[in-house]
Amino acid sequence: MMERPVMEVEVGGVWLSHPVILASGVLNETAASMMRAVEGGAAAVVTKSISLAEREGHPNPTFVELRTGYLNSMGVPNPGIEHYTKEIERFREEMPQVPVILSLYGESVEEFEELGRAARTLPVEAVEVNLSCPNVEEGGIAFGKDPDGVYSAVRAVRRGFPRGVWAKLTAHCPDIVEAAKAAERGGADALVAINTLKGIAIDPYLAMPVLASGTGGYSGEGIKPLALEKVWELASSGEVEAPIVGSGGITTGLDAVEFLMAGAAAVEVGSAVRRRGVGVFSQIREEIEAFLVEEGYGSAGEIVGLALERYPHEEVGE
Ligand code: FUM
Repeated sequence: MMERPVMEVEVGGVWLSHPVILASGVLNETAASMMRAVEGGAAAVVTKSISLAEREGHPNPTFVELRTGYLNSMGVPNPGIEHYTKEIERFREEMPQVPVILSLYGESVEEFEELGRAARTLPVEAVEVNLSCPNVEEGGIAFGKDPDGVYSAVRAVRRGFPRGVWAKLTAHCPDIVEAAKAAERGGADALVAINTLKGIAIDPYLAMPVLASGTGGYSGEGIKPLALEKVWELASSGEVEAPIVGSGGITTGLDAVEFLMAGAAAVEVGSAVRRRGVGVFSQIREEIEAFLVEEGYGSAGEIVGLALERYPHEEVGE
């Protein structure tokens, strides 16, 4: 009888029992909702993006379902790091074995530095620097769109935070490899690619955008090929050393396998919770495992970057 494949992976200093993680922005308002994601099979949780001070977020409507995914413009609503701490502590008490990655949202280098210092005292394995929210003027993409912004935000967090620093990159930049290299120079231990993509939906009968803020971040199955290509670009560049976490439209185990084969060490799953329910994390893990068994692979780690090895970079796109 064939042995079960090894599903454990290590990403930027964080050990995961398997490669499927809850992404920021879904099911992470409270300790209870994050615990539901773990009960649904998530190997680790990324929290909501948390700022220094409380943020109200954007007025409704902030969310719309599309044929091929979703558009949201929440505006990073959150209670601020001091108040959110109790959610992290409560989660930790109940699920001490499950890694927590705290997503940080800052609007200045000083804020990022202070957030890094504040996170140091919290029971989290890593932080994820949000360089990619498309729904705000001052933070998110304002940092992620150019290498200097990426470097300064990551460096600022790194100064205060001694454990894993993950940088969540945006596809809305001229060259994601340059952004990744800047993140590494700033001290990132892992790279997350990508966040939602800026989009818009218009109500033809009202002749106005559906979302109150006009544009929003597009997520779900429709963005999977774009997100996968960004992971491929990073992994095939030969210029990036940090492990990559793939994110964007991953809904099935085979989607996750594609990301692993493109070079991701793990994947974040968010919108798929709406498609398949909270058990989606277990379903994806089981589907990855079934694929590995069927194809005779011994571990999830074994397929990381396999498509790159089979299709050398010099030939890509030529
Ligand atoms: O609008 C939002 O809160 C989205 C945040 C993000 O995509 O990082």
